[in-house]
Amino acid sequence: MKRLLTVSALARWCAALLLFAGSAVAATVATVSSPGHFLTVTLGLNGEGRPEYSVARNGKPVIAESRLGFLLTDAPKLERNFALAAQSTRSVDEIWEQPWGERRYVRNQFNELRVRLTEKTPLARSLDVVFRVYDDGLGFRYEFPDQAQLRQVNIAEELTEFAVVDPATAWWIPAGEWNRYEYLYNTTPLAELSQAHTPVTIRTEAGLHIAFHEAALVDYSSMWLRRVTGQRLKANLSPSSQGPKVSRTAPFVTPWRTMQIADSAGGLYMSDLILNLNEPNKLGDVSWFKPMKYVGIWWAMHLDTWSWASGPKHGATTEHAKRYIDFAAKNGFGGVLIEGWNLGWDGDWFANGETFSFTQAYPDFDIAAVAAYAHKKGVRIIGHHETSANIAHYEEQLGAGLDLYTRLGIDGVKTGYVADAGGVKALGEDGKIHFEWHDGQVMSRHHLKVVTEAAKRHIAVDAHEPIKDTGLRRTYPNWVSREGARGMEYNAWGNPPNPPEHEANLIFTRMLAGPMDFTPGVLSLTGRGGQPLQSTMAKQLANYVVIYSPVQMAADLPENYARYPGPFQFIKDVPADWSDTRVLNGEVGDYATIVRKDRNSDDWYLGSVTDENARTIEVSLDFLDAGRSYTAQVYRDGDDADWKTNRYSIAIEKRMVKQADKLTLRLAPGGGEAIRFVAARSPSALPARTTPVSLHRDRFVNYENFPSRNVTPRKVVVWLPEGYDGGRDRYAVLYMHDGQNLFDPETSTAHEPWAVDRHLAALERAGAVRRTIIVGIANSAARWREYAPAAAVERLDPQLRTQVAEAGGGDPQSEAYLQFLVEELKPFMGGLISLYALARYPDVFGGAGCLSTHWVLTTNPTLLGPPIDARVESIGGAYIEWLAGHLPPPKTHRIYFDHGTVFLDALYGPFQERVDRLMAAQGYQRGIDLESRVFPGATHNEQAWRDRLDIPLTYLLRR
Ligand code: NOJ
Ligand code: CA
Repeated sequence: MKRLLTVSALARWCAALLLFAGSAVAATVATVSSPGHFLTVTLGLNGEGRPEYSVARNGKPVIAESRLGFLLTDAPKLERNFALAAQSTRSVDEIWEQPWGERRYVRNQFNELRVRLTEKTPLARSLDVVFRVYDDGLGFRYEFPDQAQLRQVNIAEELTEFAVVDPATAWWIPAGEWNRYEYLYNTTPLAELSQAHTPVTIRTEAGLHIAFHEAALVDYSSMWLRRVTGQRLKANLSPSSQGPKVSRTAPFVTPWRTMQIADSAGGLYMSDLILNLNEPNKLGDVSWFKPMKYVGIWWAMHLDTWSWASGPKHGATTEHAKRYIDFAAKNGFGGVLIEGWNLGWDGDWFANGETFSFTQAYPDFDIAAVAAYAHKKGVRIIGHHETSANIAHYEEQLGAGLDLYTRLGIDGVKTGYVADAGGVKALGEDGKIHFEWHDGQVMSRHHLKVVTEAAKRHIAVDAHEPIKDTGLRRTYPNWVSREGARGMEYNAWGNPPNPPEHEANLIFTRMLAGPMDFTPGVLSLTGRGGQPLQSTMAKQLANYVVIYSPVQMAADLPENYARYPGPFQFIKDVPADWSDTRVLNGEVGDYATIVRKDRNSDDWYLGSVTDENARTIEVSLDFLDAGRSYTAQVYRDGDDADWKTNRYSIAIEKRMVKQADKLTLRLAPGGGEAIRFVAARSPSALPARTTPVSLHRDRFVNYENFPSRNVTPRKVVVWLPEGYDGGRDRYAVLYMHDGQNLFDPETSTAHEPWAVDRHLAALERAGAVRRTIIVGIANSAARWREYAPAAAVERLDPQLRTQVAEAGGGDPQSEAYLQFLVEELKPFMGGLISLYALARYPDVFGGAGCLSTHWVLTTNPTLLGPPIDARVESIGGAYIEWLAGHLPPPKTHRIYFDHGTVFLDALYGPFQERVDRLMAAQGYQRGIDLESRVFPGATHNEQAWRDRLDIPLTYLLRR
């Protein structure tokens, strides 16, 4: 690919330049830029041969020279005396699909630089560093190659640094303290951060937002960030009582050290960097996991009205469980969590994890009967495994505990690791119990063990007091959610409870890591002993949208929901699985407005939350489909709502809205707003859900039902090139048929779009083509009729003409379709029909691109009956004969043809040869006004066209 050449050439060129310059600072050995050239990473070696990297954005330094390397416990440090042994680059641009998530399709577009550093000393150990640079951030990791001189790697410390250039404010929670992650967020100058868990989010004085985190934490220790001096942060790996913080056998790779970088807080949230840096799904089909909302025998324990322990207050009884199952079934919730069902909760369960049984229920809980009852009611049970962080004990029973669930049809487990940080009890290789941290190498292994054991049994895992999320849900999609921050439980008994700014902090810090089982929706707004929640009612609803989890709890007691049927309706309606997500606005710790589209309908949902300050926020509804009306079901703070004085005040209203509308959200102090946008049924037969996949969603203009007097209204999507100036400059316009297949996997055949926008953008950047606007015209139900050139069909003998027309659903409507293009679509703002358009309207169109040209004209030639060959021959022949008299003169237009050789494309060769001969006879010349290509082995589908799209685009649109 062209871009790849550009990158590697650039890297080598820079290396040469700097070597020549012989500079005193670290000499650049390699550099790599993001696909859109926003970010540039430079790797240098200083005078001592110590590797350092730096990051610039739009040419401005963001991260100054920062160290890389390792201290080892049993070998000299791996940190200096390096020379560059090799480097390579590559580019990737792909789209992958999430089985569940905040958005269905994720684009993964990066340039990668890989360097091998080798020590110049007799030890001559090698270390690879790999950078993946995206437009919205970067990740880098170390790879320890297989080498005799460093096979067993015992890491004492990782030396990675992040030296932030511009003064910044930081949002962070402490690491290495008594609690795990359940702290209130600190907002301090970055220069006052002590030691923090990631994600750490910062905002520079110039407004640049950076989130530091890691991706794919597998068999390694979590990275804490310790401030060295000024704004220089350094990795500090979570400790281990085994000695080395990490012990591995080479070859192996470390987790990715990540920086999401954006102009706004919302930009950070929109980044898919963490997921993209994880390995693809290793579990195959995971459709057995269904995102859902659930209720549970849970809040009553946190209120202390019920207990986990046995006795008169015992919560997990058969009778209670059945009542919760009934409640779930009645209100459409998918699951019921049941905590405290198993032996071991009596006494000090915090301290005595070894007393838990994961197979034996308390006598007043008939687990088989409860499971059968749930099954009958169509409700799933979420089982519970509190371990008190005694993983030695848990791992002994893990298989049996999960097997029991399998036997009972229980396909979800919430695990728990309640113990102070550093209080995990793990079995060492010496056979003894060792105390470990919740986020060290031991726990990264333990969690994956639980997740993979559960996956074998088709069980989903939701871990509390977990290790932090680093995007492993991509690889193991049954690891569906986790806690790992202060959740709702702190509003029951926390001192202090969660403050009004808590959600706005979480969204732009913890939530960058992945889903959180926050357990929202306490409409009673009251914790233990009457402690008030620092929230309004409407904010409780908004949290379902702003805090993402594919298992989303309705945490309050059933009897409390009965008291608030109005607001409860939103909790019943809101989904837990989305096809799209957008952040409309937000500032870290202050407020955020997020909209998400339901994965299973055309409805959108909005959630907006604020801190202790009231706020008026205007939002435009341009995320909605054009030309469609929606009923907005609004749940807003009452005019007098205030978390301190009037937290129950809520107004529930309905109004009709359209894409062009704006809404004003008035958030009370500690308040929020939730809206469900119910889509009116689409009047068109076309799939109305079209959210083009692109980093630049704003570059698409959708016309849902482009009106026409000539043909049925249809969807038209216009793509505007980067820097489109509203029409002052001149642009080429590329009309493409079957427009639903161009951009959006959701509407494309087999989910494979042509991705023509990406091709064009890259070709434009490379200077290969003119600046071009794409007009994608979706097909209609009368596809054959519109795309079959009428003049050709008319030349067929009457019997064949009737057959062809019947197979295609009626006579050709190509004239009407062309009139639509020429009179209606073109004034408003190129196979067979493109060429036909050009031949019929040579003054309107400058060129035609005909990919896999279907000369045989009829949809399914076999339907014609024998002799097929002869019939196909006469159909194609008819068009070619017509063309002979109607082609525009040579040198006036550019015409492109191609075809593959597989499936339908196997039919096209002989016809194309005839056309080529015909055109040559008329004076057309290859490379000048005619291009005709064959792609041996290529078939007839969107993927094949996408793969070669640069060729027709370059030919037709070249400067
Ligand atoms: C802490 C968890 O966060 C909470 O959800 C659970 O109820 C208790 N531990 C008991 O396991
Ligand atoms: Ca917890």
